[in-house]
Amino acid sequence: MADRRLSLIFRQSWSEPATKQKAALRVEAMDIDAVVFDLYGTLLEVSSVGRTVAKVTSDPAAFVDLWRTKQLEYTWLRSLMGRYQNFWATTGDALDYTLDGFGIVVDDDVRAELLHAWIDVRPYPEVPDALRALAPRTLAVLSNGSPDMLHAGIAAAGLTDVFAHVLSVDEVQTFKPYPAVYQLAVKALGVPTERILFVSSNGWDAAGARAFGFPVAWINRTGAPLERLGAPPSLVATDLSALTRELA
Ligand code: LAC
Repeated sequence: MADRRLSLIFRQSWSEPATKQKAALRVEAMDIDAVVFDLYGTLLEVSSVGRTVAKVTSDPAAFVDLWRTKQLEYTWLRSLMGRYQNFWATTGDALDYTLDGFGIVVDDDVRAELLHAWIDVRPYPEVPDALRALAPRTLAVLSNGSPDMLHAGIAAAGLTDVFAHVLSVDEVQTFKPYPAVYQLAVKALGVPTERILFVSSNGWDAAGARAFGFPVAWINRTGAPLERLGAPPSLVATDLSALTRELA
């Protein structure tokens, strides 16, 4: 196992926000045995769904923004309501809301085509090389996506052989950031929580994983403000290449 470990340098105390601007307050080294990634927005670029959406609107970016916003809201609301349904169905409901909001009417075939865009989401350009650089460490995905959606999406992105585990919230029938979701990675990997680095671009997911107990790398591609959820990330990187440099 030792050769699979990497040494991660924490640039500040875990209680302090990790921003590039903030000087190192405390340096803490620890060993990481595995890296677990969020999928949508972290490895796969949600805005690429706009390629398909452009068939029904002249403003695909705004359409995808609303679709993504409602998709995530529905995961949180259904979790609170105790009315889980899988991410595929939830993404379909968010699509129907968005079509309605844009005043667009489509037939069943076009609706299916739009929804299908979620199993052909393009990886961010640096992702394949960055994942190769992180191997042969144990790499896994932990996502809201339903199992079929995840396996098809990862295959379409050309990343099938990269991950030792592809874990879906479906196993616990609730969505992120419910703690039992993050526990799935601990159970599957058989590695202590504090030795699993969780990587997400979604600030709220990074906070959920950090609150659960993982060391967390927040991939902040857009210069977004830090989420005020009381669980700041352990480190911040602008993309996955920057993360691999941090971990080198
Ligand atoms: C996922 C969501 C956060 O992949 O997009 O879990």
